[in-house]
Amino acid sequence: MQASRVYSFPVMADWSKRLAGIKGLVLDISGVLYDSGGEGGGVPIPGSIEAVKKIKSSGLKLRFCTNETQATRDKFVEKLQRLGFDIVVDEVTAPAPAACRILKERNLRPHLLVHDDVIPEFADINKADPNCVVIGDAADNFSYKNLNDAFQVLIGLENPVLLSLGKGRYYKETDGLKLDVGVYMKALEYACDIQAEVVGKPAKMFFQSALTEMDIEPHQAIMIGDDIVNDVGGAQRCGMTALQVRTGKYRPCDEQHPEVKADGYVNNLAEAVDVILKQLDK
Ligand SMILES: *[C@@H]1O[C@H](CO)[C@@H](O)[C@H](O)[C@H]1NC(C)=O
Ligand SMILES: *[C@@H]1O[C@H](CO)[C@@H](O)[C@H](O)[C@H]1NC(C)=O
Ligand SMILES: [Mg+2]
Repeated sequence: MQASRVYSFPVMADWSKRLAGIKGLVLDISGVLYDSGGEGGGVPIPGSIEAVKKIKSSGLKLRFCTNETQATRDKFVEKLQRLGFDIVVDEVTAPAPAACRILKERNLRPHLLVHDDVIPEFADINKADPNCVVIGDAADNFSYKNLNDAFQVLIGLENPVLLSLGKGRYYKETDGLKLDVGVYMKALEYACDIQAEVVGKPAKMFFQSALTEMDIEPHQAIMIGDDIVNDVGGAQRCGMTALQVRTGKYRPCDEQHPEVKADGYVNNLAEAVDVILKQLDK
């Protein structure tokens, strides 16, 4: 079914005008480059490995943007390299390093409630005498004790700051649906009567940090993702053009989403890149 669909940009004339100033692409990873799960940790989506190569040789700037918070970027990137992708750690914007930047900027010393595998991302952050809490998808480490420790830090602060690496409700793994960080973030918000600051998609600040790293303006960038709300909606609110791919978590009803309308829908990353490069060539 997907293969027989054609790409559709709402207003083609407008589209080519828009592309004129494009300097960089921001790509979501899961559902755009590969589908996660299974033995090797995932399978590349057909054409994506080549598409990444084409972007790199086109002279466009490229940044990968993920909400992955269960592994360090090193591990995550290693997996993608194993799958065949030309990608290095410095090209990836992820919630943990974005949170580190915020911590440094605001002189915050975190108490960490994150997955053990993500702790190394915070290696050069001062964690003594914490004045905030950083919560991520800690999975099995979301014990009563660990949550309560985080609660005690927050409730003891005059100005409690809670940074959350994403706010997903749940996600899917091979053995079923799993509670995501948002659920535990809400628990701490409720207990302390505070509002967390979410670092990750769809937060504007998160997309902005990807653009800062590319040194381009929002109107010079195109985001390509499979999540209509978090990728497309988030990027558009940041002032970027955004395309939805019909791979990963895409569902046909996304194209009639009540709140978010993508600037274009494409069958997959390979097709998006072909269309964009063809326009830029003109
Ligand atoms: C997290 O869970 C692992 C495995 O159950 C355990 O070895 C580790 O000590 C836990 N870490 C924390 C900080 O609770
Ligand atoms: C975050 O990542 C997980 C996989 O790691 C995915 O299933 C989930 O949908 C993602 N959430 C958002 C908001 O992108
Ligand atoms: Mg995705």
